[in-house]
Amino acid sequence: MTSTITSSTTRSATPPAPGDADERATYAVALERSAVLDALIDEHATDAAKDAEDAEDAARFRMLTGDRPTGPLHIGHYLASLRNRVRLQEKGVETFVVIADYQVITDRDSVGEIGANVQGLVLDYLAAGLDPARTTIFTHSAVPALNQLMLPFLSLVTDAELRRNPTVKDELALSDGRPLSGLLLTYPVHQAADILFCHSRIVPVGRDQLPHLEQTRAIARRFNQRYAAGHSVFAEPEALLSEVPLLLGTDGTKMSKSKGNVINLRDSADETAARVRAARTDSERRITFDPKGRPAVANLLTIAGLFLDEAPEAVAERVGDGGAQALKRVVTDAVNESLAGHRARRADLARDPAYVTSVLHEGNARANEVAERTLATVRAVMGMSY
Ligand code: TRP
Repeated sequence: MTSTITSSTTRSATPPAPGDADERATYAVALERSAVLDALIDEHATDAAKDAEDAEDAARFRMLTGDRPTGPLHIGHYLASLRNRVRLQEKGVETFVVIADYQVITDRDSVGEIGANVQGLVLDYLAAGLDPARTTIFTHSAVPALNQLMLPFLSLVTDAELRRNPTVKDELALSDGRPLSGLLLTYPVHQAADILFCHSRIVPVGRDQLPHLEQTRAIARRFNQRYAAGHSVFAEPEALLSEVPLLLGTDGTKMSKSKGNVINLRDSADETAARVRAARTDSERRITFDPKGRPAVANLLTIAGLFLDEAPEAVAERVGDGGAQALKRVVTDAVNESLAGHRARRADLARDPAYVTSVLHEGNARANEVAERTLATVRAVMGMSY
């Protein structure tokens, strides 16, 4: 398949987080590659429409991504990842979504309201348009063969490289002085099992997940070299970065449930209005998009723009001299109108918990089939089929 890349990148060139020079360089490369991947997926979508039988081609773009079930999804998740998953599903990309329940206990002492959180994620996935007939939704804990892949994979990494992982270091720093647990140290290897068990080639993730992708690629490469005599049992997956810039909470700082600065997908229109009303702004009447000088205002403009599919500058122009009050009205309406359908579908689905459970059971069954096949291959190439 040849490709002509026509769409130059529309992604934000300004890095959302500073990072060190290496991280910034890796991010820039991943961003560029993501634009190419997007174009290839589009091309594939056109080809697939012509030739629906080409199964090998479909596998080229199999994708896996996931969420930790630590609480409700908010508008940042929706704009940066959920919408994008649905878009890729609609393009015919075979999709796997892991509800990463074993990842919950990487940085905390208990699983919390795990059952309700898992149920809530499935509700948001379905309400957003993920179709269980085409997308496999599953939980770690229900797929033993996936978890078993972690054993050979652990043999392919050193403790030094795990300790260097910047995302693990950040999570450790944020975990209230906890000692580094074996699981926190090794969860990037477990995440590699998530990605490789289904031979996923595309992994839509945020910038903070790039170190895990690199670790996964190293594991795939080393597995092939060390245990499969150079045969390609595992292909190296690639990150697909979101076009959406990092969104802040309504107080202009990092979104965090404990700070009460997030708008959740399941919130009512009134709760959303109240949250936006309490948002931090400034006293300048004329609304302008100035991310450096007026980050909180810029963040609100960005949120409205993403929901309205408009540039934040255009939203600012429209609000003009209306001040913070007019801005907040625009933001509230944008969020509430865009999410009205999602929230209504979510509420409907929530009335049928048996259906939600059945979606999960079917997803788990499908994930188990795939994982068992992969594990059988792994054991066979390692000479362990007795
Ligand atoms: N670590 C991811 C997060 O915290 C969630 C996740 C688990 C994931 N397994 C994955 C993401 C595999 C991509 C691929 O958001």
